[in-house]
Amino acid sequence: MEVQLWREILAPYQLAVDELVVKFNHVKQQYQNEKVYSPIEIVTGRVKRIPSILEKAQRKGVSIENLTDKIEDIAGIRLICQFVEDIETVVQIIRQREDLEIKQEKDYITKSKPSGYRSYHIIAYYTVQTIHGPKRIEVEIQIRTLAMNFWSTIEHSLQYKYKEHMPDELRMRLLRAADAVDMLDNEMASVRDEIMDAQNSNKQKATIISDILNNIENLYYVANKREVAKIQDEFFKIYRKDDMQMLARFNKQLDIIAETYRAQTIQR
Ligand code: GTP
Ligand code: MG
Repeated sequence: MEVQLWREILAPYQLAVDELVVKFNHVKQQYQNEKVYSPIEIVTGRVKRIPSILEKAQRKGVSIENLTDKIEDIAGIRLICQFVEDIETVVQIIRQREDLEIKQEKDYITKSKPSGYRSYHIIAYYTVQTIHGPKRIEVEIQIRTLAMNFWSTIEHSLQYKYKEHMPDELRMRLLRAADAVDMLDNEMASVRDEIMDAQNSNKQKATIISDILNNIENLYYVANKREVAKIQDEFFKIYRKDDMQMLARFNKQLDIIAETYRAQTIQR
């Protein structure tokens, strides 16, 4: 097939990948804006390279004409989560979306593949708008934990290196590594609440501190410099104590001071 034709065929897939990466990053962003834990940690996407498409077509006995009907992962999105529990949440999010129509779900988590591979796959229809009108294509969304992603990345490069001839010894070791990954995910699940508490309190602290700095900056415009300098010294003192409650109280006081100045300016 001619290169130009490939470009034409792959263009809507590239558009779909670009759009979906933006959309899922916004899902993550929205959780962060609302100061709650995001079940999505990392979003990536790629369009399958032409040689890989050809290799897969050959392996599956698919003719060039049927390529886009038979190969479901030309457009691929990967959603990486911190914890196994998050995967279900992400699946629910996808099921509810109106821009994705699920064709098939493959659960390689409850039951891993013989290689040891674990991941949750969703094949979905997604429509992009082209200059020739709307085009509905298939995308493959892989949802997995950081640990599962670590394993599959390594295993994939070994597969690539050995093709069909991976030594049995290596295959065995990868299976053992897959068990270790499974154990790691389970261990992590048991400390999930602790980790989430820590993440939440880190975020809360960061928010309070940026609120305080904002408040101080605003006071610069309205209050006298000596007073602001005093407030700043006070802030550094409290900051060094690393006490969330004190920081929160200090921030409230600043709010009140700022409010007083605002009231004065309006009266003037
Ligand atoms: P292929 O595995 O690509 O032939 O596709 P399929 O139609 O059999 O679907 P399947 O759900 O088995 O795999 C889809 C995708 O999941 C693959 O393209 C890989 O990205 C990933 N995958 C599946 N099995 C493995 C595996 O054993 N190791 C790794 N690293 N990735 C896998
Ligand atoms: Mg396969």
